[in-house]
Amino acid sequence: MKRLAVLTSGGDSPGMNAAIRAVTRAAIYRNLDVIGVRRGYEGLLDGDVIPLTKSSVGGIIHRGGTILRTARSERFKRPEGVNEGLSRLRSLDVDGLVVIGGDGSFRGAQELHLRGFPVVGIPGTIDNDLWGTDATIGFDTAVNTALDAVVKLRDTASSHDRLFVVEVMGRHSGWIALSVGVASGAEHVVIPEVSFELGRLCDKLHYAKKRGKTHSLIVLAEGVMPAQELASLLSDTAGYDARITVLGHIQRGGGPSAADAILASRLGAFAVESLCDGEKGIMVGCVNGAMCTVPLEKTWAERKPLPPELLELVETLSI
Ligand code: F6P
Repeated sequence: MKRLAVLTSGGDSPGMNAAIRAVTRAAIYRNLDVIGVRRGYEGLLDGDVIPLTKSSVGGIIHRGGTILRTARSERFKRPEGVNEGLSRLRSLDVDGLVVIGGDGSFRGAQELHLRGFPVVGIPGTIDNDLWGTDATIGFDTAVNTALDAVVKLRDTASSHDRLFVVEVMGRHSGWIALSVGVASGAEHVVIPEVSFELGRLCDKLHYAKKRGKTHSLIVLAEGVMPAQELASLLSDTAGYDARITVLGHIQRGGGPSAADAILASRLGAFAVESLCDGEKGIMVGCVNGAMCTVPLEKTWAERKPLPPELLELVETLSI
């Protein structure tokens, strides 16, 4: 192996820069050449690449976003796009590719793998919805960003005796909502993994009010329904006047937490080590504190379950 390429793809996540730095420096340490592909698979198809050096990845470990930029590529979803990307990698003399992203990005990586190209994935998404790693890069930071907002919302909710619905990210996954719910002491969490029952939520709100609770926070994962819809349901069914806050893309911004910067550094170095050892078609992950690998396909085919203990805690600690 002489030359590696690295790209970031899909939604950005805090810690992607720390992973780019780790991949670059670990590769240079092994006397490999490194190029960065800009704008994910889109940039690959356009041949938008830059050399990465020890100094060009200096001063980025703490920065949010991704210096390589990112994209969700429609072109790369088609077989012709993948074939074109493969030719591009070969014409650039690249021997191995590191893809930092989430499940969509790994589906693209798998296509390259199936065509015989050595590729290793690094889990980078705030959603934490990939099988094979306890945490994805950016999840911890996103939870802390959302938590900061929810804690502030509680101040105004309690001052005004109000009900708040806070919508956090997670189209198919309740990891952020559940974690923020537990960490903020939210009264209710509405997530895609648990079927939503309006009657039950109204009963809980009613019971809380009866025993003297003057304000409540509901943390809602965006995948269940928009916050406005839930507020309307609560108003139409039980006359609740809920205020809503949609946290949105703020959850993807900001520099990484210590946990994310460390995770990204470890995974970046381990991805290079794995490629050099001849591993391919895998994602590197961290399970119970130890580095590990899992076939790319499994990362999206298996569903990472939410910890039942956390689900129970939201119920038992908020009453
Ligand atoms: O990257 C994951 C994620 O932030 C999801 O939580 C969210 O649903 C989605 O991306 C939003 O994507 P986009 O930025 O393309 O609107």
